[in-house]
Amino acid sequence: MIWTLVPQAQNTFISNTENRTFTNLNGKWNYVLDPYMTGGMGGRAIMDNYEPTDKTGRVEYGFTPDRTLYVPGGWNTQKPELAYFEAAIWYRKTFDKPDFDESKRYFVYIEAANQTATVTFNGKELGKHEGGYTPFSFEVTNLIKKQDNFLIIGVNNQRDASDIPAKVHDWYNHGGITRDVRLIEVPKNFINNYFLSLDRESLNKKNKTIKGKLELAGNSLPENAQILIPELHIEQNIAVNPKGATAFEVTVKNLKLWSPNSPKLYDIIIKAGDDEIRDQIGFRTVETKGKEILLNGEPIFLKGICLHDENPLRKDRGNSIEDAQLLLGWAQELGCNFIRLAHYPHQEKLVRLADKLGILLWEELPLYWGIQWENPEVLKKAKEQYTELIYRDYNRASSIVWSIANETAPIPSRNEFLSEMADHVRSLDPTRLISAAIKKDQELDGHPDSVYTYNDPLIEKLDILSINEYLGWYGGLPDQCRTKSFTSGFEKPIIISEFGGGALQGFHGDKLTRWSEEFQAYLYEESIAMFDKIDGMVGMTPWILVDFMSPLRQLPGVQDGWNRKGLISEKGIKKKAFFVLKDYYSKK
Ligand code: GCU
Repeated sequence: MIWTLVPQAQNTFISNTENRTFTNLNGKWNYVLDPYMTGGMGGRAIMDNYEPTDKTGRVEYGFTPDRTLYVPGGWNTQKPELAYFEAAIWYRKTFDKPDFDESKRYFVYIEAANQTATVTFNGKELGKHEGGYTPFSFEVTNLIKKQDNFLIIGVNNQRDASDIPAKVHDWYNHGGITRDVRLIEVPKNFINNYFLSLDRESLNKKNKTIKGKLELAGNSLPENAQILIPELHIEQNIAVNPKGATAFEVTVKNLKLWSPNSPKLYDIIIKAGDDEIRDQIGFRTVETKGKEILLNGEPIFLKGICLHDENPLRKDRGNSIEDAQLLLGWAQELGCNFIRLAHYPHQEKLVRLADKLGILLWEELPLYWGIQWENPEVLKKAKEQYTELIYRDYNRASSIVWSIANETAPIPSRNEFLSEMADHVRSLDPTRLISAAIKKDQELDGHPDSVYTYNDPLIEKLDILSINEYLGWYGGLPDQCRTKSFTSGFEKPIIISEFGGGALQGFHGDKLTRWSEEFQAYLYEESIAMFDKIDGMVGMTPWILVDFMSPLRQLPGVQDGWNRKGLISEKGIKKKAFFVLKDYYSKK
């Protein structure tokens, strides 16, 4: 950037903002293109929001009323000229805050901005955030005015080898402020975060134990907090330690467990000093036992599907409850009780809806393909972003798997990096399962043996062995699935985290005609038959529910910038293979 400013604020994680007091800053924002990512034009910083005061004034950028972008929303599909724009754009929102209250604290909260965001407010740089899929916020209490506030955010979606994900990935790089922006209002001392989960040890006891942790922020913290679960007649006092991080336990009677068949959510109220936060939380346990996954102590088969966070009908990232309802509705039609949210954190509204609908989730960070494993800055970013994801979704019963990688070669630097990531994730959240989508090195196709044994050293660090297996699409033809299989030397459950093939909806031919719906359906039939025989296979998430945008897919007349492995087309039309999988799940 052309100027160096000392950030005025810390990136503060504030959870559950939809249930706090906030001003919604969504809508039309002005914007200025910054193709060379300088942050300024003609020697002036864009964040100054400078306008000449007389005719001699010189400025070489401008936020004009007619040039606007919608927030939330990727910029690429809002303006044809921005379709492949991968650089910086500066957004501006001006607003008055006549009810500004001196007794409150104010934070600008951004649910997601892809990829790097520089947040400035009333001419001051607050700070930067890196990572296109996790929320962040900066305090503006000492800067906000009753009138003429201007929030200017620079977003840069340039892909870089040292990013997460790295330069090349098989999805569209939707740039911009892709999810909600809110001005959050909290008391001087407030409940920043809270974490509640059912203690596994109490699962088989008459009275269950809910383990909790509170994080308070402020300079004069209350000595006590209260947790209320009215339906369970709980109203418990919690002594707050001076640092504001407090662990506690609540014993509850007649707890109704959360599960896909009975997604019971409890109203939770937490009070501390002048603050009060409400949430809806389900309580369940998940663990492995040998080659089984146990939900609430019972073995479960995960009837899953992979999903990108993209509404194909709008050609944009999911950013509304309507987007979430569309995508989860399709998954329910398929008969799913499980969804792999590939390959990055999806919008929070979808995770909260999954809580309500009883759909289990696999969540992940885009440690995908060619990450710079030997770069300590990348490991630091990965840990920060995973912390943000766990802080955001810790209280969501639907989320049961944290995945730390997708299709990464088992080289020493990657093994070390991901081993540290597994430890980091487990240290923050020991209540969920850890996995990673392991890719065989395409050996199976030409592999002399009919059984391929997975021996990736990373598997040792995982609770679940998850396998991406494209036999019949990337190697061989579907009939090869009859002669091949695989296993692992580990006493761990196996999930087939990807399989499938492409089909252009409406294109028909015989079952060996590539890109026909018939080929895709045949591949599903043969793949499912192969996987069904594998000892310890406790679930699958075929690739993928719906066609999605990808610059890596440019076969004219077939792909045209879309990955066609969806079971549903980008127009929402189901392909034959959808019904093959639906039939299999209906019998599971
Ligand atoms: C890979 C990868 C996906 C990709 C898919 C494909 O396994 O994990 O992100 O889209 O296969 O080739 O279509």
